[in-house]
Amino acid sequence: MLNVWLCLLVCIGIVTAEDGSQAWLRYAPVPQASSYQSLPSSIVALNSTRSSPVYTAGQELQRGVKGILGKQLSVNSTGKSESTIVVGTLNAYQEVFGNLDDADDLEEDGFYLSIEDSKVLIIGQNERGALYGAFEYLSRIAQEMFETGSSISNPHAPIRWTNEWDNMDGSIERGFAGPSIFLKNGYVTDNITRVTEYARLLASIRINGIIVNNVNANATLLSSRNIEGLGRLADAMRPYGIQLGISLNFASPHDFGGLDTFDPLDPEVDAWWANITNKIYSRVPDMAGYLVKANSEGQPGPLTYNRTLADGANMFAKAVEPHGGIVMFRAFVYDNHISYSNWTADRANAAVDFFNGLDGKFDENVVVQIKYGPIDFQVREPPSPLFSALRNTSVAIELQVTQEYLGQQCHLVYLAPLWKEIFEFDLRADSRPSKVKEIFSGERFRRPLGGSAAVVNVGTNTTWLGSHLAMSNLYAYGIMAWDPSIEPEAVLQNWIRLTFGFDRQVMDTITDMSMKSWPAYENYTGNLGIQTLTDILYTHYGPNPASQDNNGWGQWTRADQFSIGMDRTVKNGTGNAGQYPPEIARTFENIDTTPDNLLLWFHHVPYTQPLKSGKTVIQHFYDAHYEGAATAQSFVKQWDSLEGQIDAERFKEIQFRQVYQAGHALVWRDFINEFYRNLSSIPDEAKRVGHHPYRIEAENMTLIGYRRQAVTPAPAASGYTAIVTTSNGTAGTATTNISFSGTFDIAVNYFDLIGGKAKYELSLSNRTVGTWAGDLEDKLGHAPSTFLDGHSATRITFKSVQVQAGDILKVVGQPDGIELAPLDYISFLPPGVVD
Ligand code: GCU
Repeated sequence: MLNVWLCLLVCIGIVTAEDGSQAWLRYAPVPQASSYQSLPSSIVALNSTRSSPVYTAGQELQRGVKGILGKQLSVNSTGKSESTIVVGTLNAYQEVFGNLDDADDLEEDGFYLSIEDSKVLIIGQNERGALYGAFEYLSRIAQEMFETGSSISNPHAPIRWTNEWDNMDGSIERGFAGPSIFLKNGYVTDNITRVTEYARLLASIRINGIIVNNVNANATLLSSRNIEGLGRLADAMRPYGIQLGISLNFASPHDFGGLDTFDPLDPEVDAWWANITNKIYSRVPDMAGYLVKANSEGQPGPLTYNRTLADGANMFAKAVEPHGGIVMFRAFVYDNHISYSNWTADRANAAVDFFNGLDGKFDENVVVQIKYGPIDFQVREPPSPLFSALRNTSVAIELQVTQEYLGQQCHLVYLAPLWKEIFEFDLRADSRPSKVKEIFSGERFRRPLGGSAAVVNVGTNTTWLGSHLAMSNLYAYGIMAWDPSIEPEAVLQNWIRLTFGFDRQVMDTITDMSMKSWPAYENYTGNLGIQTLTDILYTHYGPNPASQDNNGWGQWTRADQFSIGMDRTVKNGTGNAGQYPPEIARTFENIDTTPDNLLLWFHHVPYTQPLKSGKTVIQHFYDAHYEGAATAQSFVKQWDSLEGQIDAERFKEIQFRQVYQAGHALVWRDFINEFYRNLSSIPDEAKRVGHHPYRIEAENMTLIGYRRQAVTPAPAASGYTAIVTTSNGTAGTATTNISFSGTFDIAVNYFDLIGGKAKYELSLSNRTVGTWAGDLEDKLGHAPSTFLDGHSATRITFKSVQVQAGDILKVVGQPDGIELAPLDYISFLPPGVVD
């Protein structure tokens, strides 16, 4: 009877509120549960100890089957193999039940899964593999994939880690979901509840390592108290087959250990590292290893002592080697003071230049961790040329789940298609097939180690990443680290089913939105390989293309009034194209063979340069920004169509973000178009840029207690000007007469700063249309701004408002703190118009 009720509730779409904390492991009852006849009657978990992942697998199977199919199964450590789910390692299975030839091809962490009526075998090559198999079985039944049969699944690569950029004080660098779950007030946290839950989540997508602290590392993590804390974290992760690792500060022997040097070739320094490493391993015997950021963005490193990067990496490698640990040494080494006036200077060259001559000089347990592109997690980059330069060194690819440059979880951007393009890119090393995915697995250059790491930055927010929809990226990361050949859309649809259930419309809508999201974001941010055009000098969020140039950071666009793009050719530019193997170098060297989407990455061209599409560069910019922003508007309608099909809690939270994204996409569109139209003086053929017939500029209204303020950067405001109250204590009013009638959506563009929560009221002839507060800092979770700029610019819309000619439009703004109730413009939008 219970099943019937559950089925009914699910089928008619009345589902309970959910906070996202269970992510894709909700184990929600499936509609067809009762038709799954041949359910096993018990679970046999061939585990040795309670901290074994096999024990966890038994518990998880019990919990999952109960939730999904509504049947309580007992878990035993012995029993028969009939009508049972047997889970264990191959060795344990063979000891009890005899040979299992079908599982002969299992590799480390792999699993064998066989489903035959009521007999289910889940056999891991090791304990971790057995747990992965259990999660795979649960994922299948949770998606009503009840097919019988058997298969082996082995990982693409041994290293499948996350990196968390958590600071000792509990903040998270580029984290958008609240404070750390690992660290607090200078110490490792005592409360491991969320750590355990996170380990469970990651184990279900076959992640096997977590680096728990920021690459910009603080040596105080090495204190005795914190080493004890790391032990606690590792104990929480161990039952999930996840090994803990830490980031190190290269100068620790000096800054923390009291030595007068941190020279990697100084025996005293080596001894210091060996000693501290032994201390950590005595508390965390299975520690995965170390992650090191050296000589990058002000971090100390071996170059300080004229030692090589290999000298630095090998020092750590020797310390962890006796314990079986590895060192992930980051390739993100560059000088952030390069000379803009030097046409041939190029940050994109840094990795290959810095690692030049070092291939083969790293110890066997060192893995060079390479960001997917040569610069820094931009919306579009070619793969890093370092992937094809290191032949005798193990490498891993570094991805970002946290959307640092890609909308900070406030914009929907499904990243798997971006990763997929990189994975499948064939670098043609030695003119042979050399896909990036075959290089980082170790296969192409026959390296024993390899894999991937993703910067995830989960926080205490119940949704883990601050946004429900952003969780598809974490899910996809794990699944694709295990098997990069899988299609992003297939991964996404599994995630949708597990996260939101079986409704067809929900599936189609979220699939459509997600698959359009990266192209849309690229369209309304930075096109043709010019990078994201975010403000690189502040929070990496809103638009500010001027911030890219004229500084030492090397994220240059080299845009002037005639032309734009980095000339990375060998014949006339930075030579970066020549860092790729010859076939690829030729493609990028030649403007005709460079794909449009990387044109400005490799070439400096006039704005009037025709693309393969026939459009000019500048017209493409205009069109793409209008198109991308329009797609972001359509996401709102698409999402709204799901009302009632998804629990109210998640529906509302996602709706809020989609509405926000739609507004901010317009800020992006107008800012970038305005900026390049000003720079190039070339008008938009379609006459949209700079023409906003539906807007009433706040600065043109009658102001009392408000004053005009020029905005910097100027294109962050329509007409380059906003209004702010004249004091931070008294409300201001802006009024104007309306000369038209009809039904309109009224959109108000304003600025929402951190450091105040101004209040606003919008009325028409004293009929209140709406009230709101500038409190996005509480709701969005991303690094906000204290200025009127492209980060803080935002929009609120009031739908279907009746307007009479003669109405007096009035906005009253009550300032708060530094937020002087800033207003930009008010649009009266007839149906179907976006302006
Ligand atoms: C980016 C990011 C930094 C980070 C760095 C890194 O530059 O903005 O916050 O420390 O990458 O990957 O080390």
